[in-house]
Amino acid sequence: MGRKKISIIGAGFVGATAAHWAAEKELGDIVLVDILEGIPQGKALDLFEASPVEGFDAKVVGANGYEETKGSDLVIITSGVPRKPGMSREDLLETNKKIIETVVAQVVARSPDAILIMVTNPLDTMTYLALKRSGFPKQRVMGMAGILDTARFKAFIALEMVVSVEDIQALLLGGHGDEMVPLPRFTTISGIPLTQLLPKETIDRLVDRTRKGGGEIVNLLKTGSAFYAPSAAAIQMAEAILKDKKRILPCCVYLDGEFGLKDICFGVPVKLGAKGAEAIIELQLTEDEKKLVAKSAESVKKSITELKI
Ligand code: NAI
Repeated sequence: MGRKKISIIGAGFVGATAAHWAAEKELGDIVLVDILEGIPQGKALDLFEASPVEGFDAKVVGANGYEETKGSDLVIITSGVPRKPGMSREDLLETNKKIIETVVAQVVARSPDAILIMVTNPLDTMTYLALKRSGFPKQRVMGMAGILDTARFKAFIALEMVVSVEDIQALLLGGHGDEMVPLPRFTTISGIPLTQLLPKETIDRLVDRTRKGGGEIVNLLKTGSAFYAPSAAAIQMAEAILKDKKRILPCCVYLDGEFGLKDICFGVPVKLGAKGAEAIIELQLTEDEKKLVAKSAESVKKSITELKI
């Protein structure tokens, strides 16, 4: 069996860094695509030239077209504009809609059996758009957000408690907006519920920082948005799929009645394996949690309506 083929569309901050993590993990050969001339080629060659130093075997090539992407097992789509200070993810909708429609058509024509991982914002809406435009089964189109959002929550908990990030398990539901729903009740440190370890006010403060975590980075960077943690999160999904790990991770997928929601792409716990999003794991929520999920779903629905598809 040859190596897997991973195409990454958009060779900007998220795309190029995703290529870096994927190459280091030897997940497969990588094709980096961008409309900017020379950028994907230059970044790919530079990354490949790092391979003798780091000792990874992966072919990395860059292109402005899609021929090289032919027969990809997995395609990560990061093409599009990021946020600047003062912008919400929804402000990107019109611009990124056009980009995603073109990109998905090109990708699907050459890799009809691929699994698509969407990264472009507004994430839930772009995942819905990619699902509809690709015509792929729902198991093969998903979006990255929940892993990033839980990673932020875990990072803030680790800082607060001075414990290893490795021992923290966290769960989060909902859309990738400031109305996302971190679930402290399902968050543990080595199995010990967070609610037994920190007072409610502290947890609330960490939840609030998590919700605004993307904006915190945008306000610091000023010219763009986060990319190290987002690209690492996308590659965690890629790894779970390419190695058929059956990991349970929060991902944005199409819901058809699960969690009481229909015809929406939304963040829920998903089993990731070789077939993509192989199962959706439902859980019992309290009335308060249900309300928060409903509010988040309402924002995503509104955004999907604006797509007019
Ligand atoms: P960036 O501006 O560094 O890179 C985007 C790249 O897409 C640019 O190189 C641009 O030339 C390319 N591009 C634009 N139109 C294209 C087309 N038609 N075909 C191919 N490439 C095209 O932006 P960055 O920081 O990499 O972010 C990318 C996207 O990911 C943004 O929409 C951002 O909001 C989103 N994002 C989503 C996250 C999530 O949690 N889902 C987290 C971080 C970013």
